[in-house]
Amino acid sequence: MVWIALEERQETGHAMIDGDHAGIVEIINQLASAITQHKSKDVCGKLLDQIIHDTKAHFARENRLMAEHHYPKADQHQAEHARLIGQSLDLKIWFDAAPAESVMSVSLLHFLEDWWTRHIPSFDKELADFIAAQKP
Ligand SMILES: [Fe+2]
Ligand SMILES: [Fe+2]
Repeated sequence: MVWIALEERQETGHAMIDGDHAGIVEIINQLASAITQHKSKDVCGKLLDQIIHDTKAHFARENRLMAEHHYPKADQHQAEHARLIGQSLDLKIWFDAAPAESVMSVSLLHFLEDWWTRHIPSFDKELADFIAAQKP
């Protein structure tokens, strides 16, 4: 099941950023499939853990890129990363505490979809464009 597809407007043009996004979106879609196939809470929870882990690693890589390129909007973008990580950790706490049938809740997937459709075309695209413009 493809819940989230990376669209053209989400291509930032930066190979590392786009590659990371594609990898994370793939796991989000695996979670969508697991939920619709009524997989166990344990299976779904592991996928959610992996999404959070890979997302943290991705944000750290973007944060390093911003530092390397002396990105003027680094503070704003890094604060957004910190906020998103906080939200995802809250989601995990909710997920762990919720009864098994709540795993079916689409709110989880709507949250993830919003995260990627909103953050990538704005914050990440602007960062990628800035780095591309620096190249001689
Ligand atoms: Fe990103
Ligand atoms: Fe970002």
